[in-house]
Amino acid sequence: MTPTTELEARKRPEIKTELPGPKSLDIINADAEFVTPSYPRPDYKLVADHAQGVWITDPDGNVFLDCNAGVAVCSTGHCHPEVVAAIQKQVSELIHLCGTDFYYRHMPELGKKLNEIVPIDGPTKTHFANSGAEAIETALKLAMYHTHRQKFIAFQSSFHGRTLGALSLTSSRKAQRLGFMRQPLDVVHIPYPNKFRHFITDQATDEGTVTCDVLTWLNKVFETTTPPEEVAGIVLEVVQGEGGYVPAPTMFVKELRRICTEHGIMLIVDEVQSGMGRTGKMFALDHHEGVKADIVCMAKGLGSGMPIGACTARADIMDWHKGAHASTFGGNPVALTAALRTIELLQGGLVDNSREVGAYLEAGLNKLKEKYDVIGDVRGYGMMLGVEFVKGSRGADATGGNPTGREGVPLHDPHSQDADLRDRVEMACYQKGLIILGCGNNAIRWSPPLILTKENVDVALEIFDQAVAESI
Ligand SMILES: Cc1ncc(COP(=O)(O)O)c(C=O)c1O
Repeated sequence: MTPTTELEARKRPEIKTELPGPKSLDIINADAEFVTPSYPRPDYKLVADHAQGVWITDPDGNVFLDCNAGVAVCSTGHCHPEVVAAIQKQVSELIHLCGTDFYYRHMPELGKKLNEIVPIDGPTKTHFANSGAEAIETALKLAMYHTHRQKFIAFQSSFHGRTLGALSLTSSRKAQRLGFMRQPLDVVHIPYPNKFRHFITDQATDEGTVTCDVLTWLNKVFETTTPPEEVAGIVLEVVQGEGGYVPAPTMFVKELRRICTEHGIMLIVDEVQSGMGRTGKMFALDHHEGVKADIVCMAKGLGSGMPIGACTARADIMDWHKGAHASTFGGNPVALTAALRTIELLQGGLVDNSREVGAYLEAGLNKLKEKYDVIGDVRGYGMMLGVEFVKGSRGADATGGNPTGREGVPLHDPHSQDADLRDRVEMACYQKGLIILGCGNNAIRWSPPLILTKENVDVALEIFDQAVAESI
């Protein structure tokens, strides 16, 4: 894309004040007084004033290179001119009418578009919502309604949102559930097939072993507490997001599909974070050829920053009665317009860019992995890349050491996860004008706008390299 503004054309971040600067601090202090303290903000404090493309400017005039995209939301970059123009036109024509009671063209238009692109076999229908959690709520209700069953299977370290139904699935951090006591839904959590840290040994393993072990666990659950004929749905992140940007092996995803089909269980694929081109294909499930979902949940990157969620299901599954599920704002015409234009841009080159520039970023991160033994893993697809920090040889001394394994510290030592180092790297990046965000216990997620260029990557990697060097 040709830069249209001075901000878009810039090459490097620019930090002019101490961070956060005085104007930013005023906002942070006002926030502390008037806004809920429950938001899980990181140690560093970024205040945005305006943003364009991959650049964010704070109220003090500092400019940051954004490799987080508002947590994987601003897929087309900040304020993409075509998305802005489409929104502005729509705002002047129709802002709201309530699609639950009336009609407008945007709902069938986006429903038709999603029908073309979602990884579901056969015709689909879509329910529109305002967020990822709401899309998940829709999927849960729909699966219960359709199957006449009440139980769900989800994965440890998963994140599906914080509304009460979604929270029953979510298990990525204690803080998300602490204080809320019992969960409304009957959900059994099984280990996620993380080949980088096997759930028993905490050691790197191969796809076959971890697939086999998780499926054995699932089978035990079926045989003991949770008969498969009572399970409405299995909810899967094909790449676990908040849990650490961990991809599931193809053989696992295929087997899960087979098990769901065998038992009449809905395979609910949560593409809220991994969808809309983030992984270099339109959906993360597209990386597993031939595997299709029954229900797909989307949000985040779908609207380039406009609040939108969508739950698309096989048309024969979405067979519920009039009044069974609806939302006043869900499917708002402005948000749907943004989504339609976003998908055009994704199909018009941004998914390809995510794949190509994502591979360039991944190669650069792998070079840093060679350079620093504290980088234990680089993983993911496209522009959904996780970098895991471990203690390396320095940590071996600090923890008493262990004679075997990588640089003297085997991954099976749970203390090898270095969350503090991850936090220091995150902070050092911020101080140098690079925005990245942690995920999982000890990983950093790279989830930049999908317009990121190789030139941007070179700058980001240079800063990241320095940040790691001075944080060790
Ligand atoms: C995979 C996944 N599902 C669901 C959600 C919840 O989305 P929201 O925060 O829009 O409710 C998130 C948010 O991070 C997510 O990553």
